[in-house]
Amino acid sequence: MTTKEKIEQLQQLKSHLWAGGGEKRVTKQHESGKLTARERIALLFDQDTFQEMFLFAQHRATRFGLAGQEMPADGVVTGIGTVQGRQVLVASQDFTVSGGSVGEVHANKICQIQEMAIKSGSPLVIINDSGGARIQEGIDALSGYGRIFYRNVLLSGVVPQIAIIAGPCAGGAAYSPALMDFIIMVKGTGKLFITGPQVIKEVTGEVVSDEELGGAYAQEAHSGNVHFIAENDQQAIQICQKLLSFLPSNNVEDAPEYGTGEIIFAEDKALNAIIPDDPREGYNVKEVILRLIDGGDFLEIQEHFAPNAIVGFARVNGQSVGVIANQPIVSAGALDINASDKIARFVRFCNVFNIPLVTLVDVPGFLPGVQQEYGGIIRHGAKMLFAYSAATVPKITIILRKAYGGAYLAMCGKDLGADRVAAWPTGEVAVMGAAGAVNIIYGSEIKKADDPEAARKKFIAEYEAEFANPYMGASRNLIDDVIEPKDTRRYLSLALESLRTKREIRPQKKHGLIPL
Ligand code: HXC
Repeated sequence: MTTKEKIEQLQQLKSHLWAGGGEKRVTKQHESGKLTARERIALLFDQDTFQEMFLFAQHRATRFGLAGQEMPADGVVTGIGTVQGRQVLVASQDFTVSGGSVGEVHANKICQIQEMAIKSGSPLVIINDSGGARIQEGIDALSGYGRIFYRNVLLSGVVPQIAIIAGPCAGGAAYSPALMDFIIMVKGTGKLFITGPQVIKEVTGEVVSDEELGGAYAQEAHSGNVHFIAENDQQAIQICQKLLSFLPSNNVEDAPEYGTGEIIFAEDKALNAIIPDDPREGYNVKEVILRLIDGGDFLEIQEHFAPNAIVGFARVNGQSVGVIANQPIVSAGALDINASDKIARFVRFCNVFNIPLVTLVDVPGFLPGVQQEYGGIIRHGAKMLFAYSAATVPKITIILRKAYGGAYLAMCGKDLGADRVAAWPTGEVAVMGAAGAVNIIYGSEIKKADDPEAARKKFIAEYEAEFANPYMGASRNLIDDVIEPKDTRRYLSLALESLRTKREIRPQKKHGLIPL
């Protein structure tokens, strides 16, 4: 062959491999509302920056009709490119090739990309669209998954890992996304479950549809496995890009800064009117969040799961921050099992990737109830105490209103290492609310009184005068300052700037035991 012929051969070979499972299957992929593996990659990366690796990979399986069967790229497109100028590793499963099923070589490709992510200190994105373990490859396929899981764990806390679920991701395959930091799932086409509706019907008799069991909403709102719901593949990629913009490339870097970074000193008078006079009345804490951050740009995580707690990324003075807040309009903002898990996980993520924490507190306590106790609220609530105490990133807490009992501490009180704690004049730090406290302390006096209701009111008024304010906390230096709500942005900006150089050294250990 001449050199020219060899080059032409390469060109033909590449365009053949780039076509994946062929026109028919690509058409089927599009008809089912999905982009192909390569189209997804093209959307993810800055133009012309994708460098593919292992295009020529081929399986070695010989059983069940696989001998000599060609599988372009072995069903997964892998490589590196840039997103907003920063390097990101990707593995995108190609459903048009044997249903994106995972065999030995397919898994090897993902493992090599994972290893590159560690070495280069760059985030990893895996786009899942697969029928699972390649049946014809038996234990080689299972072993492949095992190696991917192992590397997911090695990467955890070193580089951000984002899974996009844009097709089936069932059985043991679901555990790779579960081991990653964030899952973005596409409505309608994404399916995530350990056992599907058919098996469930056979085993338990329960009848449930694919979407009800493993659709994006079910896996976000009910199970909390998923962090973001996307309407389609395009939106899933946009969410991924936006998420990456808030994150550093790895655990020894800081997140990129956007905007002017200018400190905002202006007052925001609207905040002075946000807390209702009636302590039982709710208000939407998202309004507070949006007023405190750059451009009202808030990337909320797990919007429908445990909506009594809000977590998400934002920027203040251009710097990425993790925002955590109680939501008074849902269950009065009380902390339950799911809210505790949601907050603790987010705090852990921010800490490991050097993102300061801003906590807004309005919490009446941990949610009472038999189900909560049987479900392990002690263990789950303890995750928050653990996560906040273990976090060494800057921690700024603003007490907006209620901060009662253990929940006061669990929302990053001073004693859990908060670097700054400010309270609004509406702040109330107490062991519990007035009605409960008065019943316990003055129950018999109230019963004996000529007018029990009047006596109860008198005791409640006394209790509120004593505890329903932030000044006792401020007198003990557990609250650094009591500020007008309108000055909160300024407070936050200056506190974050002053904490940029924060250093906190802890004793070396293999790891602690977060209450799992
Ligand atoms: C080999 C597979 C495959 C698999 C799909 N294909 N799944 N090949 N191993 N696991 C192939 C099909 O033969 C077909 O090949 C092509 O992919 C597309 O599949 P279809 O069935 O035509 O597509 P569709 O109707 O869209 O259905 C998609 C599907 C279904 C729901 C994913 O294919 C399916 O149920 N697959 C099996 C799922 C499964 O049980 N996997 C094992 C799970 S256990 P052709 O050549 O016709 O295009 C597991 C364990 C992991 O994953 C353990 C880790 C610890």
